[in-house]
Amino acid sequence: MNERALLADEARFCSFGDTVHYVEPPKIFERCSGSYLFDSRGIAYLDLQMWYSAVNFGYANQRLADAMRRQLDMLPQVASQYLHSTKIELARAIAEDALAKWDAKGRVQFNVGGSQAIEDSLKLVRNARGGKSLMFAFEGGYHGRTLGASAITSSYRYRRRFGHFGDRAHFVPFPYHFRGGAGMTKEQYGEHCVRQFERLFESEYQGVWDARANESEYAAFYVEAVQGTGGYVIPPPNYFARLKEVLDRHGILLVVDEIQMGFFRTGKLWAIEHFGVTPDVVVFGKALTNGLNPLAGLWAKESLIGPTVFPPGSTHSTFASNPLGTAVGVETMKMLRESDYASIVEAKGAHFLQGLRELQRRHPEIGDVDGLGLALRAEICERDGFTPNKKLVGRMVEIGLSGDLGLGSEKLGLVLDVGGYHKNVVTFAPSLHITADEIELAFVLFDQVLTRAKRDLA
Ligand SMILES: Cc1ncc(COP(=O)(O)O)c(C=O)c1O
Repeated sequence: MNERALLADEARFCSFGDTVHYVEPPKIFERCSGSYLFDSRGIAYLDLQMWYSAVNFGYANQRLADAMRRQLDMLPQVASQYLHSTKIELARAIAEDALAKWDAKGRVQFNVGGSQAIEDSLKLVRNARGGKSLMFAFEGGYHGRTLGASAITSSYRYRRRFGHFGDRAHFVPFPYHFRGGAGMTKEQYGEHCVRQFERLFESEYQGVWDARANESEYAAFYVEAVQGTGGYVIPPPNYFARLKEVLDRHGILLVVDEIQMGFFRTGKLWAIEHFGVTPDVVVFGKALTNGLNPLAGLWAKESLIGPTVFPPGSTHSTFASNPLGTAVGVETMKMLRESDYASIVEAKGAHFLQGLRELQRRHPEIGDVDGLGLALRAEICERDGFTPNKKLVGRMVEIGLSGDLGLGSEKLGLVLDVGGYHKNVVTFAPSLHITADEIELAFVLFDQVLTRAKRDLA
């Protein structure tokens, strides 16, 4: 069927309730490989977002696809109430890694998507804190769009039509230095933000703490170590260690959402490892299976998830711990152990960041660039380098998807994603296997889309 007919059917038969129609007309792709998506004309689009960081190890990764094929031939399906070896191996790999890093015993629970794993984590922390249902979370935080997850996700937009289900989190400012820390170094700003949070516990009249009972009304603080949808905002290096001290003093659990930043996006298995704190719960998803299967899950400390406190039946989903997903997850964990991903990602990230800084020198509209490993950002602004310019970045995305860029006579496209509080941040999550030549190509194509977008809107 040709593309025009497909789009007509889509407009007639598909719900518009997902995110497809954020871009008009929606884009159809036919094939993928490595860092590229291909459309029906055979045009290659360099993907700098990799399915919001679900495909960290490149499209159609042979090794991971083979793991799935092997499982397909052996035990492709089995009800989640029974066991199969890859579920146990994967849980062990994740729990042993946590034990080695944090000296913390724990267990793993799987589910079928990031939002569902967040829901499970909400059950865990509510249960562990005597049914307390209130959470802290960050302004700019994103934890998914099921009803419970959207209650702790800051955007009202995701809740507006649906009323309340569960308690809306108390949203705390994230230490977003570029937009908040004028006159302060990053570290000073990190300290300042923790102090502001700490003030909530100064007296009972701030509404979160009963000093006589020595008890907070809040069960947990949900954090992304590096904000994802919020625009790949990287916090000051001192922030989380200080925050954790405050949480520990007040009996509040730290839940780290690694769904987008996990699996070496930032150069470590978990982004929180950069900040020297031990989480109570880690929630993961996306790149665990390199996008081949919607498997997600959580790791939690034994005291929160041991069988006496989280007994059989506490959670379940038909497809949780499905064998195709866990088989790929096991292979992902093996692959991560066999190569020095930390050094690889750090080196590629440095190359990428340096190129973005050069582009920033040529384009005053790039207000801020930053990066941690291969999670990078370019904040697109007016010529003052500060006022957010959503329109310009929107045009850049359209130009990239037109497939009309190029080197000489070869036509190419560019896949960019936009995030940020003002929807003006290009969030870069390229394949961790991206080559140096592809990084150089990214700079050329990014320069082209920005130059053309500025011309179009002049
Ligand atoms: C940080 C974070 N948490 C949770 C989610 C929700 O995961 P899912 O879309 O798999 O439900 C996402 C998805 O983008 C995310 O980036």
